[in-house]
Amino acid sequence: MAEPFHAGLNKIGMEGSASFVAAQVTDFYENHPYPPPVDDLDAYRKSWDDRRRRAESHLFWPSEPYREDRSLLVAGCGTTQAAHYAMRWPSAHVVGIDVSAKSIAFTQELKRRYALENLEVRQLPLESVAELRETFEYVVCTGVLHHLPDPDAGLRALRDVLAPAGALHVMVYAPYGRAGIYMLQDYCRRLGIGHTDAEIRDLAETLKALPLDHPLVPLLRNSPDFATSAGLADALLHPRDRAYSVPQLMEFLDRAGLEFGRWLRQAPYLPWCGALASAPHHSKLIELTAEGQNAAIELFRGTMVRHSAVTYRKDRPAQNASADFEGDAWLRYTPVHLPDTIVVRDRLPPGATAVLINRNHTYTDLYLPIDELQERLLEKVDGKRTIAEICGQWGDCNLVRDFFRQLWRWDQIVLDTSAAVVSS
Ligand SMILES: C[S@@+](CC[C@H](N)C(=O)[O-])C[C@H]1O[C@@H](n2cnc3c(N)ncnc32)[C@H](O)[C@@H]1O
Repeated sequence: MAEPFHAGLNKIGMEGSASFVAAQVTDFYENHPYPPPVDDLDAYRKSWDDRRRRAESHLFWPSEPYREDRSLLVAGCGTTQAAHYAMRWPSAHVVGIDVSAKSIAFTQELKRRYALENLEVRQLPLESVAELRETFEYVVCTGVLHHLPDPDAGLRALRDVLAPAGALHVMVYAPYGRAGIYMLQDYCRRLGIGHTDAEIRDLAETLKALPLDHPLVPLLRNSPDFATSAGLADALLHPRDRAYSVPQLMEFLDRAGLEFGRWLRQAPYLPWCGALASAPHHSKLIELTAEGQNAAIELFRGTMVRHSAVTYRKDRPAQNASADFEGDAWLRYTPVHLPDTIVVRDRLPPGATAVLINRNHTYTDLYLPIDELQERLLEKVDGKRTIAEICGQWGDCNLVRDFFRQLWRWDQIVLDTSAAVVSS
């Protein structure tokens, strides 16, 4: 077993109040392992197939041919996430680290039960990840950095073990959609509410008396996190929790030597998707830089609770991570369906033969109406044909380009751009 969490922190120069906060966070997760442990991953295993893996691979590495054998680090893996990744990527070497002994024990049990030979688990603070003496092509850190006493030190440590062409998936809290949570955190602090089972029970009961128009109420109603006492404690009684607006996230990445690649789901951040596409301000929004658009739209939407981003090292080998629809390279891109996308055919807007939805989107304005010709193009997307092959003798190249750009912006497809990179 690794040395205690404090030792790791003191080594990287965080003492006094920082190590006190770190100890509180560790103690918190020992008492409330997150997410609530599960012992049955059969459904999860069944939900992952080659198509899904390929979509994930091109989401993170659009210009690399599909690969399954990456080295993968799950930093702050909690009770289940590392086992999930080991199942989802059976040919990858997966390492899960966490400060919580309980979370590590739950993960070890899943490893044993499902014979996950490709999974290695260590109790280790992510600030000390260099001790593993390994680099990783794929680093996943979701729901962790915003709880650290020094998130910058944590992100830098992860950046330092990221392979040069690697990708880091980071998820941190977003401030505006969590306003109600921060009010209740402050409320609980003022009352000195701790996180014993009895205190959490009383808190859950008291929340039933919240005014119906309190900003926390929609979250209590809609977020599965509040359905369990671990989730409730994680949201309202956490000893350490900060959030990042879009500009703050970009600065956070920059300070760690990372650059933003894309949002895991980008449509909610884009002026071309949803209600803003036809609002009078659309023309003003598209004049802004990409970051300016994202920052403005976070304010406009008002209810984002987290940001999930795909990020890369600033000094990674040159490659075009973003899709480019300006020249003619897009004709050599291969569209790959994203999972969780569905075609709906009832209550259609005028002129539409179907509406496309990504079930991971929570905003109700994010549905994409398509017509009969577009449907015919969509039917030919099989993850093998390039856009040029799909459109064949199709007359209007601009219409085809606009449609595939739309599908990409709306999180219906990702693009395998490797053929375009090879031939450029
Ligand atoms: C909210 S949970 C998220 C778990 C997992 N990433 C997921 O998304 O399901 C946060 C996890 O981070 C862990 N953690 C907190 N501080 C840490 C640190 N300094 N190093 C590694 N893990 C840490 C906690 O023990 C806890 O398991």
